[in-house]
Amino acid sequence: MSENSVPSPRIASSIGGLPSAVGWAHLLMEDRLRPGDSVIDATCGNGHDTLFLAQLVGSQGRVWAFDVQEAAVVETRRRLAEAGILTATVVHAGHETMAQHVPPERHGQVAGIMFNLGYLPGSDKSVITLTETTLRALSVALDLLAPRGLLTLAVYPGHEGGAQEQQAITQWAAGLSPRHYEVQLLRPINRSASPPECWVVWKR
Ligand SMILES: C[S@@+](CC[C@H](N)C(=O)[O-])C[C@H]1O[C@@H](n2cnc3c(N)ncnc32)[C@H](O)[C@@H]1O
Repeated sequence: MSENSVPSPRIASSIGGLPSAVGWAHLLMEDRLRPGDSVIDATCGNGHDTLFLAQLVGSQGRVWAFDVQEAAVVETRRRLAEAGILTATVVHAGHETMAQHVPPERHGQVAGIMFNLGYLPGSDKSVITLTETTLRALSVALDLLAPRGLLTLAVYPGHEGGAQEQQAITQWAAGLSPRHYEVQLLRPINRSASPPECWVVWKR
């Protein structure tokens, strides 16, 4: 392939030529979601993923977004308003409560759910996702997910508390029945330290 014919990637990486953990999640969501779908951002933070999901599902779609930090909720609402998005509900609550906020008629109908774990960039690094609530939220999320729906998890084992959460997710993912779920893991393998990982769960 000549240099001139190399296509420029749509999802750039902050660390090199391949997508980051969140970049992989975006690519997969872009591939699978359709206008009109219902989706969940389980950790809205600064609202980048919420906006991305809202734009993918369009004006006929529905988005629910969750965060425990008020600053994250405010920033996500601001970002959505700036983009003219009217289809998203941003909830100031932990993702482990998501089933209480998504109407019962949408349970089992959600096409995509994104978790972007860890701490809010540019904010208080002591507020991180916690293993126990993450696992509870994942269990609820699988119930909300539609057949052929996609759940992605960006996991950051490098920060304090992140390695324990990553181990718990590894155990949780390995325990999912292959009759009901396909699970894949995307991560750099030739880097030292603890690079971010993208976990993907597809419901049969
Ligand atoms: C890596 S950030 C998310 C980045 C975000 N998706 C974005 O696009 O900017 C992780 C977020 O998870 C939030 N968080 C921590 N525990 C949570 C919980 N139990 N439920 C929902 N969000 C939580 C943090 O407050 C933080 O904003």
